[in-house]
Amino acid sequence: MANANLKNAKKQKNDEFYTQYQDIQKEINAYLEYDKDVFRGKTILLPCDDPEWSNFTKFFAQNFENFGIKKLISTSFAVESKNMDIDYEPTLFETIDPRFDKAKTRCKGKIFTLSQDENHDGKINIDDLKWNYLEGDGDFRSNEVKKLRDQADIIITNPPFSLFREFVAWIMEADKKFLIIGNINCISYSEIFPLLKNNKMWVGNRFNKRINGKNMTFRVPDSYEMKGTELYIEEGKKYISVAGTGWFTNLEHGRRHQPLQLMTMEDNIKFSKHKEVQGIGYQKYDNYDAIEVPFTDAIPSDYDGVMGVPISFLDKYCPEQFEIVGLAPERSDTMINRVFHYKNAVQHNSNGTSQSGNKVNDGPTILYKEPPAKFPYYTCENRDGFLQVLYARILIKKKVKDVSPEQIRVATKIKEQTNENNITN
Ligand SMILES: C[S@@+](CC[C@H](N)C(=O)[O-])C[C@H]1O[C@@H](n2cnc3c(N)ncnc32)[C@H](O)[C@@H]1O
Repeated sequence: MANANLKNAKKQKNDEFYTQYQDIQKEINAYLEYDKDVFRGKTILLPCDDPEWSNFTKFFAQNFENFGIKKLISTSFAVESKNMDIDYEPTLFETIDPRFDKAKTRCKGKIFTLSQDENHDGKINIDDLKWNYLEGDGDFRSNEVKKLRDQADIIITNPPFSLFREFVAWIMEADKKFLIIGNINCISYSEIFPLLKNNKMWVGNRFNKRINGKNMTFRVPDSYEMKGTELYIEEGKKYISVAGTGWFTNLEHGRRHQPLQLMTMEDNIKFSKHKEVQGIGYQKYDNYDAIEVPFTDAIPSDYDGVMGVPISFLDKYCPEQFEIVGLAPERSDTMINRVFHYKNAVQHNSNGTSQSGNKVNDGPTILYKEPPAKFPYYTCENRDGFLQVLYARILIKKKVKDVSPEQIRVATKIKEQTNENNITN
């Protein structure tokens, strides 16, 4: 259901999912815990925002002095460019201002800035925000917003889902620090995966995680039409929860440096809680020179070769412990990690039918001598036997011989703190 919601958001170009205040607050706390001065003296840009709706502007304006921010800039996208049907009424805040313009309010973006005590009440906060219409509609790709990007140190937002790749490229071309919301699905995009592999981007503190039984939840406009359990109404406001959602960043946080505590291969085979591993061991892929590790907590600590792990591993990835060597399937024909390409494959379905089996090259495979019990399976011209295709896997390799006792100590401490925070929250 949740993925259907995301697809729907993309299809309708209905990108109006608004981030909740407490989600922003909890995430930001993780970066402040790691470096209390992370925002000190910095210009922060909040693009793709809508200060009258968005909690990003509210949160950073309220904490302006506390965090030592130098300048806060927030821009919004014009309602007429949003390509969706929403009842738009300018807020009182805008209509009572002498600058209010009936035409501009619909077709121009807005800019809000905060840098000094405008109302001379002795503090800098949300009451000191200055605003104006932008020249254009506030599209993050416009020259006007690009100039704002170039003067910013850190870019923070929940960008439109439908433009996620473009948005990341836009940040990267300016080489900025960032903290943005995205979905686990984008990990395998050819534009995104190399950034994760090369440690130019990593997952934030909260990623693909249910808290109190809920995925990350966003407010949506009242006109939002969705069916299903992922949409609910609370105090008259509509919310949607989207699985696989979380933060991507290139800001440091403590959880990223907590090594996983793992068992050796021998101990996993003896004691693993997973029936797929216990007493069975690890299968080797046919088309990649790697072993299949179906669960992150079943990664053998003493295996020196390449291992294929679920995509959710990224949330546990500690760059001091592992190196990411690739993705299966590879998103190009370069065959960097892949060692075999199947030709003229046939897909065999559970109802006895068969069809073209190109999908066999879409992931890591396991080769069987006999037809496997699970459908579909594949046969092909240049390989004897029967093939099963697995989910996409991240290919990793152990980086250090052993994680030091000091790293384990730090990891345990951070874990305890995180648990305490989760309990108190
Ligand atoms: C997922 S919403 C998030 C809004 C806000 N950042 C928040 O988290 O509450 C993305 C916002 O980006 C806006 N948007 C869509 N296309 C855009 C573009 N090309 N340039 C700037 N903003 C855009 C949408 O109208 C929407 O308000």
